[in-house]
Formats: sequence, structure tokens, C-alpha cells
Amino acid sequence: MKENIKSLLEKVEQFSTESLEKVEEFRIKMLGKKGEITQLFDDFKTFSAEQKRELGKDLNELKTKTLEKINEFKEFLANSHEKSDAVFDMTMPANNEPAGSRHPISIMRNKIIDIFKRLGYTVAEGGEIEDDWHVFSALNFPPEHPARDMQDTFFIEKNPDILLRTHTSSIQVRAMEQNKPPIRIICPGRVFRNEAISARAHCIFHQVEGLYIDENVSFADLKQTLLYFAQEMFGKDTQIRLRPSYFPFTEPSAEMDVSCKICGGKGCNICKGTGWLEIMGCGMVDPNVLENCGIDSKKYTGFAFGMGVERMAMLKWQIRDLRLYFENDIRFIRQFSTVV
Ligand code: DAH
Repeated sequence: MKENIKSLLEKVEQFSTESLEKVEEFRIKMLGKKGEITQLFDDFKTFSAEQKRELGKDLNELKTKTLEKINEFKEFLANSHEKSDAVFDMTMPANNEPAGSRHPISIMRNKIIDIFKRLGYTVAEGGEIEDDWHVFSALNFPPEHPARDMQDTFFIEKNPDILLRTHTSSIQVRAMEQNKPPIRIICPGRVFRNEAISARAHCIFHQVEGLYIDENVSFADLKQTLLYFAQEMFGKDTQIRLRPSYFPFTEPSAEMDVSCKICGGKGCNICKGTGWLEIMGCGMVDPNVLENCGIDSKKYTGFAFGMGVERMAMLKWQIRDLRLYFENDIRFIRQFSTVV
């Protein structure tokens, strides 16, 4: 009896079918009047009280499992049967599912990366939470340098200072510490500054940093690279202008303008009548920065540049208010669905 129960239990467990008729056949075979399990119950009646005690539980369990299995298959096959009966008209137009669209900041960031990738740059990223060394000290900001005040910083901890990075230049420090030249990287990322939110400023925004270090890299290389970038981004007839400027981590430093596309250089309210739009800071990496990051400044030179993604998108698509980027109003974002 014990053996029979065991082998029937295995049969039940292995049972599988795709037709309702087979389920019914199986039910009759097991639990019908002359079914195998019914038979066992008949035999059971003839057992002594002690044998009954020993086998009763197993026998009942076998019956319950068999019923469960039968019901499970009945239910499953009945449902799938309904579905396969449904009439599909393959020629009906598909439901128009509204697709999302990419955010203009992502589109612009990808555009910038694509252009530099074509020049052999690879993408490097870094953490948003940084220490003082990577955001300021290694980049040649002396402890009391007023440039540290230029960027109002969100500090997480003081002494030693842990902060939200105020610029993506921190990534170039990490890249130089970890790699040997030649280094050619483009570093997109989110940055944080303690600024009041307005149409022209936000406490969170995005930058893309670039860095090229090798032997004999000159200012002429920087100029040519940035001219190529500007023309790829704003059109082949775009001109650039470099104005002397100051950053602690570059020497010499410059700010780069592109000719205003809206008025063709004649002067309009977007370029405030100048014919030029400022798009980024740049310069030759200061030898102190190279040495701070373990690179021999006698052997290697390099250039760096950094631009704001929000600003680039504003200029490219004439967006007037920075806050629009963060409101996630689908009517605003959708306008960029055709821009790739
Ligand atoms: N880090 C600068 C900023 O946040 C931007 C910048 C300027 C980056 C000049 C550079 C550079 O790499 O060379 O305003």
C-alpha cells in the first residue's frame, strides 16, 4: 500500500497536459469509480486499525494533492482557452501609446559628448560628493584664495572638508592621479552651488569638462579643438573668440565666445547687442596642477575647458528660464522630442 501511494503521488506530481479532456481523463483514471486512488480507499477499508493509523494520513494527502492538481489545470486551461478564442483583427491600427521624450539637458550632454568622441575623447565620471583636495586644493586654489568664495559651496562636513562638487574639474584631478598621459577625457556631471534660484541661476546644474594632456600640447591645439566643437555644435559658419580670463587651475586662461547665430553677429537681445555669446572657460593646465596630480610638468603640457550644459541648451534652443529644466513640465520637455 505504502509503495502504491508513493508511486501514485509521483504520477500526480508529474502530470501535465494542455487539454481539458486529458484533465478529465486523468480525474477518472485516479478518482473515478474504478480509479486507482478509489481502489486504494477500498483496500484501506479492509485494514486493521493500526495499519489505518499508519496509512490514513498519506492516503488522504494523495487525494487532496490529486484534486488540487486537477483544479489547477482546469482553471488554467479554461482561462487560456478563453483567450485563444478572442478574435484579433491584425489589420486594426495599433493603440497610440504616448512615448516619453528625452530631457533637453540629456540631449545636449549627449551632443557634446558625441562631438568630442569623434576627436578621440573618452568619457570619465566622478562622484558628486568630494573632498577639498579634488575640488579646490589640487586645482591650485590656495586656502584663503578668494576664488573659493566665488563658488558658494554646500559643505557636508568641515575639517576635513567634505562637500558637493562645485564644478566637474574635480574629475580631471582624479583622472590625472589615476592615469598616465596621454589623457584625453570628457567629463559630464551634475554640480552644486549655494545660489538663489532664478531664471539665470540654479543651485544644481550640469557641466561638461574636457582635459587633454600629452607631450607638446599647445594653446593652438586648444583653439583648434574648440573651434571644431563650436562649428559642430552651432554650424559651420560659427566663429569663436577667446578673451583672456583667470582660473586658478589654468595659465593662461580664457573665456570662449561664439558668434551669435540669432543675429549673425549684428547684435540682438540674446547676445545683448555684442554679436557674441560666452560658452565656456578654458586654458592651459597650470604646471602646479600637473605636479599636484603626479604628472611631470617638464615633460607634459595640456589644456582643459569647462562648459555649462544648461547654458549651451539655452543658446542652442533659445530657452529663456533655467527653472524650466527642473519643473519637468511635459509640455516643455516634449518640444525636444524631435531633436536628436
Ligand atoms: N571649473 C570652471 C567653472 O566651474 C569651468 C572651467 C574653466 C573648467 C576653465 C576648466 C577650465 O577646465 O579650463 O566655472
